[in-house]
Amino acid sequence: MASEPTTRILIPYDKVQERIRELGQQIAHDYPPGSVVLIGILKGACIFLADLARAIPAPVKFDFMAVSSYGRGKTSSGEVKLTKDLDMSLEGVDVLIVEDIVDTGVTLTYLAHVLQQRRPRSIQIAALLDKPSRRMRPVQVKYVGFTIPDEFVVGYGLDHAENYRNLRDICVLEGGEL
Ligand code: IMP
Ligand code: MG
Repeated sequence: MASEPTTRILIPYDKVQERIRELGQQIAHDYPPGSVVLIGILKGACIFLADLARAIPAPVKFDFMAVSSYGRGKTSSGEVKLTKDLDMSLEGVDVLIVEDIVDTGVTLTYLAHVLQQRRPRSIQIAALLDKPSRRMRPVQVKYVGFTIPDEFVVGYGLDHAENYRNLRDICVLEGGEL
């Protein structure tokens, strides 16, 4: 019989918060006050965005998009579809895409392309986690929370089959039938 998967803490909650505070300060330093719009990618980035927005000591706006990827268990097919669009215009604004994790880079390559067509003043990416060993498309991530090895992680917004998003810590999912 298959064993149940277990979780092992990779990055504890306090360390995540400490790093997000640093990123918030850095973002506030890099942009004119009030110019930045955070674009959170649902659902994984919602918790990161909530903490990051409050760590930026300046006015920010935010909005959300959702995408789905086809034909993948844990690997990307390269096909991405927009399933929820923004409510606001991006024309002339400084866009900061807020993503939970950059893995192959396929999702962010697609999103950056879509958002570029909305004529923002600038586009940069903030990703809580980066798994560079899995990259298939080159992506420039300006703000990275943590670089991690090639392991499947859950918690702090990240899921496996919609589970584990509410774990406080970032955990490696081990065992079971992943
Ligand atoms: P990419 O297009 O391969 O870069 O995939 C990025 C998306 O895959 C992320 O937004 C996550 O939703 C998902 N993903 C990639 N790696 C993990 C992981 O280790 N845990 C949970 N989700 C992941
Ligand atoms: Mg995601």
